[in-house]
Amino acid sequence: MTTQPDHYGDDGTVDRVLALLPTRPSPRALAALDQFHTRGAVATAELASRAGLQPGWLVLDVGCGLGGPARQVADRFGVCVVGCDLSQPFVAVGQEITRRCGLEDQVRLMVASATALPVNSATMDAVMVQHVTMNIHDRSTLYAELARVLRPGGVLVCHDIVQKRGPPIYPVPWARMPEQSHLLTTAQTLSALAASGFQVDHARDETAVSLAWFAATAGAPPSDGPTLATAMGRDFPTLVANHRRSLESGATAVLSVIARRAVGSVLGGAP
Ligand SMILES: C[S@@+](CC[C@H](N)C(=O)[O-])C[C@H]1O[C@@H](n2cnc3c(N)ncnc32)[C@H](O)[C@@H]1O
Repeated sequence: MTTQPDHYGDDGTVDRVLALLPTRPSPRALAALDQFHTRGAVATAELASRAGLQPGWLVLDVGCGLGGPARQVADRFGVCVVGCDLSQPFVAVGQEITRRCGLEDQVRLMVASATALPVNSATMDAVMVQHVTMNIHDRSTLYAELARVLRPGGVLVCHDIVQKRGPPIYPVPWARMPEQSHLLTTAQTLSALAASGFQVDHARDETAVSLAWFAATAGAPPSDGPTLATAMGRDFPTLVANHRRSLESGATAVLSVIARRAVGSVLGGAP
């Protein structure tokens, strides 16, 4: 078992979210709902720019959640995105939002596991994994699978919570119980990536900028559309507050990585 799907949505998630979803949602109406990671759409935009996404590229968003990052990069960079996620309710909501945004030609979301992707080898120009690895215990199988689907030289974008002096204060947005959380340190993450044939271009500790974002957005007026609390349940503000406290205390950190599938790994040489 690589994650606890019950953590992400329940039997009522689809109905609760769709009841509040505008017929033609604007990115502003969706912002509090469909970007399920620290610094939301700002982080997605920065990472996609650093990855150098090019129009026409095929991008895989692993653990795509409700599909906000997939729709954002499709719209902004002219790429096509396939999103995979283990949560059936999240994918169902994400498909409906994609339809209402008129992006079905560019964005396809499906239920699938990150460690057994229904994708042919060496077909993806880029793979995006934002705030997903924290649920995946078997990191070597995950990274081997991501390397398999990327073309040689293809780009991997990771945005993770990592353990520093840890553990985090539970419950957190990715885990209500410690058994659901599988954090690595930055060094362990980089070493697992290298072992799967990735060459790291950039690795950044984004904790300070993330804490600044929490401070800047804390007093924002509440959204009148659906939010992640609609999808995840009423305890969601507590999960976010604990995530912020864990970062502030130095228990955890935010790490972003841009890496490439090394050509040597395809030729059978050392990664
Ligand atoms: C915190 S959310 C992030 C969603 C999305 N990446 C975003 O940034 O908006 C984590 C997502 O990872 C998914 N997930 C966790 N483990 C997974 C796995 N083994 N395979 C596929 N998806 C997984 C969850 O269902 C959830 O939607």
